Amino acid sequence: MNPQILIDTASQLVADHKGLLAMDESDPTCNKRFAKLGIPQTADARRAYRELIVTAPGLGESISGAILYDETIRQQKKDGTPFAKALAAAGIVPGIKVDTGAKDMAAHPGEKITEGLDGLRERLAEYFQMGARFAKWRAVITIGENIPSRSCLEANAQTLARYAALCQEAGLVPIVEPEVLMDGAHTLEQCRRVTEETLRNVFIQLNCQRVLLEGMILKPNMVLPGLDCPTQESVDEVADATVKTLLRTVPAAVPGIAFLSGGQPSELASARLNAMNVRFKSRMPWALTFSFSRAIQQPALEIWQGQEAKVKSAQQALIHRAQCNRAARLGAYSAAMEGT
Ligand code: 13P
Repeated sequence: MNPQILIDTASQLVADHKGLLAMDESDPTCNKRFAKLGIPQTADARRAYRELIVTAPGLGESISGAILYDETIRQQKKDGTPFAKALAAAGIVPGIKVDTGAKDMAAHPGEKITEGLDGLRERLAEYFQMGARFAKWRAVITIGENIPSRSCLEANAQTLARYAALCQEAGLVPIVEPEVLMDGAHTLEQCRRVTEETLRNVFIQLNCQRVLLEGMILKPNMVLPGLDCPTQESVDEVADATVKTLLRTVPAAVPGIAFLSGGQPSELASARLNAMNVRFKSRMPWALTFSFSRAIQQPALEIWQGQEAKVKSAQQALIHRAQCNRAARLGAYSAAMEGT
């Protein structure tokens, strides 16, 4: 492991007020999103859609890194250029999702544990050869009656930390993603408590597994009320609860925090990120940015619908969301940017 390479890659990922694009939906997840829009669920349609994203003109102006999936990193543009190479040529660092999914946790009804550590060292070496310079692993925490349990939080935190240590050994910056889900009727306060406890566990384990904090990125959820909670707090209240939780739990040595969107409407995700950067700009020791999938891609996917003739307008919609989120990172986003 060369710490300076990790530190350099991590700072490149959060430089110039850019953020990350998650385009690492597994085949089943991508197919589910295609099915809703009547797009064929084939490897070729997935390839065509990823080519649309990777070749969107000017994507590198707002996006510093893109997270690919195993199928996608092995695919090419129509002209034969591998996607990882095309991204690098556009000034975007290629990354790779390396977990193999969140599975039911034994003896823990309603809870998940993420798998994928077996053979990970070898897979990371292969992805590095293919051009990946960072990786992602997502742990899932559900809020419900008597959950999350302490054992679920500890097991997921330890797994994230073991993944992160293996990534750094292989020269890849780990994106550490503990996602507290929005599903449910829990309050913002419940989400705040669970997110705080989750992040405390994660950093205890990262330290225990000797992960270099300067060479990683944290990818957390925003602190939000559950989707079915009758009280939905304002953008500023969400911003305050989220940043206060992060200030309590995330060491200043971590260079960047890049949120997942988790199914929030695209414009709301931008507004919330913007409010955090406006209200806490001078108090945050880390860069606060985005690593969205749905909140960047969804409008483009809905325009494309699998049709070649719609590629250009879908790319425009993608670039628009990427630019809105870059503005949000700067604290310069406003609703007036929408509809332009
Ligand atoms: P969403 O932004 O759609 O939540 O996806 C982010 C991600 O990478 C989930 O692992």
